[in-house]
Parts: sequence; structure tokens; C-alpha cells
Amino acid sequence: MSSQFRTAEDTRKRGSALQAVRTQWFWWAVTLGALAPLAWLVWRFWQGSLGVDPVNTINNETGRAALIVLFLSLACTPLNTIFGLRRALTVRKSLGLIAFLYATLHLANFIGLDYGFDFDFLLHDAVFEMPYILAGIVALLILSVLALTSTRGWMKRLGRGWKRLHRLAYAAGGLVVLHFLWQAKAAERAEPLIYAGVLGLLLLVRVPPVRRWLVAQRTRLGGAKTARPLPSAKLVK
Ligand code: HEM
Repeated sequence: MSSQFRTAEDTRKRGSALQAVRTQWFWWAVTLGALAPLAWLVWRFWQGSLGVDPVNTINNETGRAALIVLFLSLACTPLNTIFGLRRALTVRKSLGLIAFLYATLHLANFIGLDYGFDFDFLLHDAVFEMPYILAGIVALLILSVLALTSTRGWMKRLGRGWKRLHRLAYAAGGLVVLHFLWQAKAAERAEPLIYAGVLGLLLLVRVPPVRRWLVAQRTRLGGAKTARPLPSAKLVK
């Protein structure tokens, strides 16, 4: 390939990459924002500044990030219903995958750094002893299935079942709240209870009569935008 041709090709590629950033700035901003806590954690790990108990810091921060990002992905559809924010639907999948990434790191830290891969000890000391761990495991299993089937291929293969399967994200949210609540001391239950309330509200918005009422209110208040979902091709990045 001549160097002249390569330069023209490089310029074209750079141009289309810039164009993609311009048109998909919302997706980039949300995706990078959701990954920022991971970058901050890795940086402090590198610097050795994760406090007196780094394993506990990693556990708490990855767990909390997984929960928050999962809830943000669950909030995308209600945001479209209430405010007609159709852009929110374009970030639903990447938020779900990032939540899965944080949850996987949370588990890897628990198995590797906390228990040193001693599975026998881990099973008897944690899994059989602390039921909140089981709730976490089931939540992560659900997130794994959703991550695996999040591709266009699986969307096509499962047809209508895909949507039904992906509603399990709410079950994962419920199990994570249970996991959080169960392990918290009495004085620390306020935060998981707030997440339980948020999950309840997100579910409420999905109830058909409530959804119809919200859409009607938005239309009445002049929100001309509809809550139509984007074409599926735009939803699966
Ligand atoms: C694979 C299964 C999981 C295991 C083994 C596990 C393990 C743990 C452990 C050991 C704790 C700390 C308990 C303590 O400090 O006494 C914890 C806390 C937590 N986990 Fe998990 N977890 C799992 C799955 C998940 C998932 C899927 C999420 C979220 C999507 C999650 C979110 C949290 C949160 C938010 C906390 C509380 C953090 C805090 O107190 O600041 N966990 N988990």
C-alpha cells in the first residue's frame, strides 16, 4: 500500500471516528462517566492509597458502583417514559454491561484478594455461613446471562423472549438490594432501604396504567416527544 494511500485512508478513518464521537457524545459521556470510578480505583490501587484495608475498599467500591450503574441502566426506560428522553435508551446496554463488569471485579476481589482462591474455606466460611452471599451470587448469575445475551445475534435468536428475559434485570436489582440490606448493620440500613424505594418506583413506572398516565401527562404538558422506543439497531451498540 503506498504511503499516500495510507495517509488518505488514515485521515478518512480519523474523520469518521470524530464524526461518531460528535453524533454519539451522550453515549460516550455516560459510558466514560460510568467507568470513571473504576479508573479512580485502579489509580489509587496503583498509588497504594486505598486506605488501611484495601481489600475492603475495593469490595465496597466495586459493589456500590455495580449497584448504582445497574440502577442507572434500569432507569433508562422510565426516563424515556416520563421525560421523553429517548437518548437514555441508547446507553441502557452499555450501563448494564458496565454494572456486570463492576460486579465481576467485586467477586474477583472477594475470591482472589479476600480468600486467596481457597475455595474450600470460602464455601464453609462465607457461602454456607452468610446467606447474603447467595443473594449476590444469584444476582451475578442473572447479570451474566443478560450480558451474554445482549448481542444483536441473541436478540434475533430469542425474538420476543429476549425482552422477557431482560426484564430479569429487575430481579437482579431486587437481589442486590437484599444482598446489601442483609449484610448491613442496623445503623447502616438507610442506604439499602433508599435503593429498595428507588427500585419500587422504577418498577411502578413500568406498570402499564401508570406508564400510560405518565405519557398522557407529558403529552398534556406539551412534551411533543413520544416515548416510542428507538429502532432496535440503535439500542444495541
Ligand atoms: C458473586 C457474588 C457476590 C459476592 C460473593 C459478594 C460479596 C460481598 C461481600 C463479602 C460484601 C461485604 C460485606 C461486608 O462488608 O461485611 C459485599 C457487599 C456489597 N455487595 Fe456484594 N457480592 C456479590 C455480588 C454482588 C453484586 C452482583 C452486587 C451489585 C450488582 C453487589 C453489591 C454489593 C454492595 C452494594 C455491597 C455493600 C458495599 C458497602 O457496604 O459499601 N454484590 N458483597
